[in-house]
Amino acid sequence: MPIHHRHDVLIIGSGAAGLALALQLPASFRIALICKNDLSEGSTYYAQGGIAAVMDDQDSVESHIADTLATGAGLCHEEAVRFTVENSRASVQWLIDQGVQFTQAEDDGGAYHLTREGGHSRRRVLHAADATGKAISQVLTERALKSPNIEIFSRRVAVDLASVDSSCCGAYVLDRARDTVDFFAAGATVLATGGASKAYLYTSNPDGASGDGIAMAWRAGCKVANLEFNQFHPTCLYHPGAKSFLISEALRGEGGHLLLANGERFMHHFDERAELAPRDIVARAIDHEMKRRGDDCVFLDISHRPSSFIEEHFPTISTRCSEFGFDLTRDAIPVVPAAHYTCGGVVVNTCGQTDMHGLYAIGETASTGLHGANRMASNSLLECLVYARSAASDISDKFSASSSQATMPAWDETQVTDSDEDVVISHNWDELRRFMWDYVGIVRTDKRLARASHRVELLQREIREYYSNYKVSNDLLELRNLAMVAELMIRCARSRKESRGLHYTLDYPALSATAEDTILIP
Ligand code: FAD
Ligand code: SIN
Repeated sequence: MPIHHRHDVLIIGSGAAGLALALQLPASFRIALICKNDLSEGSTYYAQGGIAAVMDDQDSVESHIADTLATGAGLCHEEAVRFTVENSRASVQWLIDQGVQFTQAEDDGGAYHLTREGGHSRRRVLHAADATGKAISQVLTERALKSPNIEIFSRRVAVDLASVDSSCCGAYVLDRARDTVDFFAAGATVLATGGASKAYLYTSNPDGASGDGIAMAWRAGCKVANLEFNQFHPTCLYHPGAKSFLISEALRGEGGHLLLANGERFMHHFDERAELAPRDIVARAIDHEMKRRGDDCVFLDISHRPSSFIEEHFPTISTRCSEFGFDLTRDAIPVVPAAHYTCGGVVVNTCGQTDMHGLYAIGETASTGLHGANRMASNSLLECLVYARSAASDISDKFSASSSQATMPAWDETQVTDSDEDVVISHNWDELRRFMWDYVGIVRTDKRLARASHRVELLQREIREYYSNYKVSNDLLELRNLAMVAELMIRCARSRKESRGLHYTLDYPALSATAEDTILIP
């Protein structure tokens, strides 16, 4: 039997964005926090490099803003950048107050060690060795589990949002254990569902990154923007068993060199910042060299730094590499680019409010204007925290405890049966992710995008039919959402007649004189 839950706030997602929001709402609010798998299974847990913030007296808000704007290739919204950077120190301090332990500098009594990554003109990235996301996730999870006003529902998959009089009033949610679709009523609903990089065959992201929040918001009538800007991280481990394991940009920040198979460095041919150019430039350069030389990968070498330094700063990466037979202290390791981050998303203001009353979007799901055409390294965790804080404050101002009186009809399963051919789902998943990789990847053309558009249309037709005939499952919901977001990505990419940031097309290689967002209106 379906259950009708009632809370003041429904938060969909247990990454940095969702957990930080839950912990900053007033204790008088009854909160439901739901996630698809276990609490830790989102991109947050796997974040390596760190979180960018102005912590050092030698650094300045203006410098962080200037680097973010330059990396975003003219498309960042300056007010969103300023808002985020000005709140960086307070957000990081909040994490420290919660108990997150960042790596400290060796020689500087009590100061934090700051690492460097692409696009940053100076060292400004706080980190917990090379497992920053795990440190954040564990501390915030522990706090949430101890908070009596936060009720956690894991292995629950939000299917779609519900509204009354154009206001969001909660969501239908699949309970994977009971196999029923329940209703979660809430005064305010928050999408903190992460990104959509699973649309690509090779990705650094965990399995749940299927763009559910973006697809749900779009179906509910919200605007989305800039989905052509999917970021490819330049360096994931190239090994059939490694599932695109990320090799942090901090390795290059600490002196790592990118090499061709013959041992030559090549990044200085593409950008004067060499290995520390923004990610779009580095990923494109690697793609170019691999295609030019017919190679399967390039190599990343940090073996010239002392072994003790490498092992201390990169313990997770060293261990993972050694499982595949590579010694980071001695070998140049094989790397390739992989889909990493969704820069666009659901359009929101600085409080995370979407177009729909009662609906918020924060974290990777949202398009705040911070990233423009290319996100600068380690600005993502920062965005999660800054917007979680502003959304918490806005929700507590506008909604009161016990504001969820909505009643919705129970989920109707009378017309559907159990799926008799799950192979359709796995086949379509594979097909979608392969054509997105081949046709909507690092280098695009009109022809490739047209092919992708045709294919996604056919897939969606088949998925719609499947969805209306069979009971929902996690895999079917993810496929339906991924196909939806892939369509939106392709539409955005086709409408941009220039090359800017992460969107590079051979048909329009130049930058337009004016920078405009791609906004899709349902
Ligand atoms: P996530 O952490 O991805 O969490 C999404 C949550 O939503 C999960 O709990 C999931 O279960 C839930 N969810 C999704 N759909 C549904 C649904 N339909 N129903 C219910 N629940 C749902 N950024 C940095 O700034 N610094 C870094 O060093 C860094 N390193 C990275 C390394 C890796 C390997 C990866 C993959 C990303 C990295 N990033 C980094 C990016 C950053 O980690 C993410 O952008 C950020 O963590 C996203 O947080 P989030 O809270 O928005 O979403
Ligand atoms: C990394 O450690 O290279 C990832 C950092 C990020 O995605 O911001």
